[in-house]
Amino acid sequence: MNQIIQSTIVFVKETLAEAEGGHDWFHTERVWKTARHIREKEGSGNELIIELAALLHDISDAKFNGGDDEKGSLVARDFLVTLGLEKEMVDHIEAIIKHVSYKGGFSQDHISTIEFQIVQDADRLDAIGAIGIARAFNYGGFKNRPLHNPAMPLQEYQDSKAYHKSDAPTINHFYEKLLKLKDLMNTETGKKMAQERHNYMLQFLDRFYSEWDPPSADKS
Ligand code: ADP
Ligand code: NI
Repeated sequence: MNQIIQSTIVFVKETLAEAEGGHDWFHTERVWKTARHIREKEGSGNELIIELAALLHDISDAKFNGGDDEKGSLVARDFLVTLGLEKEMVDHIEAIIKHVSYKGGFSQDHISTIEFQIVQDADRLDAIGAIGIARAFNYGGFKNRPLHNPAMPLQEYQDSKAYHKSDAPTINHFYEKLLKLKDLMNTETGKKMAQERHNYMLQFLDRFYSEWDPPSADKS
């Protein structure tokens, strides 16, 4: 494996050693592998930029660093500079990391390079399907949120701060974000993968609601 990638992996593993289970090294590893897969299928995008951006995309998540949205891209930049990469490449990777986050769908920030589109698709794919379900409930547990509360209506958030501060049940997060992602994919490969994972989440929700309201004893 490329020496640059290898040093980046060591750096990311060390930095994310204490991370929450849904945003840890294994999340990063899945996003990295999925990004490589999408690039191969799409047949375009600079390999090194995609791999480094995927590996560094959650190096300092605002959800876990006290709310600093800028920190992740700055930590990544400081690290990339030590690798001796050319400035243009460092700038591009920094921009991808800065813009990749969902932020409740409020972020207007956008860059249109294929490298950005691939890394964003890979990150979003990890938020849906079986892994997405597991991550959502893990994060909900980490925040001590209820699994579900039928009396709790879906909320419209005014901005990304309100979205991130929400204490709504984890099931609500499916409607607030996870089920929206399939229509927000950038690449054809990403869209296909998202559709399958989306269908699986719908099945999961059906099943969840049927078990939530079990047949009552007196009827059986
Ligand atoms: P980003 O990190 O891209 O800005 P989010 O803040 O929406 O995206 O969250 C990333 C992941 O963290 C989600 O895909 C989900 O797994 C988990 N997560 C975030 N907010 C919630 C929530 N309110 N309930 C459950 N899981 C959440
Ligand atoms: Ni991520």
